[in-house]
Amino acid sequence: MEFAAQLQDYLERVERAIDELVPPADTRPVRLHEAMRYSLQAGGKRLRPTLVLATAGLFGRRANPLPAAVALECIHTYSLVHDDLPCMDNDDLRRGRPTAHKQFDDATALLAGDGMLTLAFQLLSRHYASTPALATELVREFADAAGSEQLIGGQMEDLLAEGKPEATAAELKFIHLNKTAAMIAVALVAGGLCGGASAAEVARLREAGRSLGLAFQIVDDVLDATADTATLGKTAGKDAKDGKTTYVKLHGLETARLLAREQTEAAVAAIQQLPGDTTFLLTLMQQMASRKN
Ligand code: IPE
Ligand code: IPE
Ligand code: MG
Ligand code: MG
Ligand code: MG
Repeated sequence: MEFAAQLQDYLERVERAIDELVPPADTRPVRLHEAMRYSLQAGGKRLRPTLVLATAGLFGRRANPLPAAVALECIHTYSLVHDDLPCMDNDDLRRGRPTAHKQFDDATALLAGDGMLTLAFQLLSRHYASTPALATELVREFADAAGSEQLIGGQMEDLLAEGKPEATAAELKFIHLNKTAAMIAVALVAGGLCGGASAAEVARLREAGRSLGLAFQIVDDVLDATADTATLGKTAGKDAKDGKTTYVKLHGLETARLLAREQTEAAVAAIQQLPGDTTFLLTLMQQMASRKN
């Protein structure tokens, strides 16, 4: 299948599965489930679930990767809803719509985030019950990636580094590897686990995911500084305004772009050593590097 058709197929499967696996909007309490669906169905790029499906496709089929893909999108979307709260980045726009706390209120956004995070683990435990070893591996991988030493740790240090003039390149790398790359790496790892990848292949996927994820957040920093709000679907120029420690602030635009390219190339080199037809995954990775939003 051509790249565009394959991508479309993955995206349609992801959208359908989100609709099926997230409680309907009329589930009590209606306001909470409406808010969860509002954020989940706002039309994000769905890169993490697409990476899960594409990576699983390189291997065999130990289990259906779709529930894991949806679970990951739930954790990602929860992290965005909380990231946008007034006590964090205080953003009004997300995925081209008012942020959850603007559309609803702070408490509802907070609870919708809690609901999405918990739903992710409910999905893993329910949908992989017939393969308990896989269920345990997925739960551990997702909990590690979303936990206090990775995603949340990165978010904490991101806030601590706000307005800090003396932040170092090493501190910045820690922030990006954890707040963002951990979730990209676990997308590849989860895909590998659902496809039945060997331990060595999972290690390679993790390594590729970390590089790809670091590149992804560097590009996010570059786009914040260079793109417009309408294209981004979130407020442009916000990092400089808030004194965020970013690759653009520490290294400048050109070096940031160069470092993103280097990390993408490292990810490509790691994926090229895997079996199966890697064409789709490699093209997707290049598109992530040159994305406009
Ligand atoms: C935004 O992620 C947050 C970062 C880690 C940079 P995405 O750019 O993947 O956001 P959506 O899912 O497409 O909205
Ligand atoms: C990544 O950082 C956010 C998360 C890990 C949730 P940013 O704060 O830069 O993400 P955006 O730019 O708001 O999407
Ligand atoms: Mg942030
Ligand atoms: Mg933010
Ligand atoms: Mg950003």
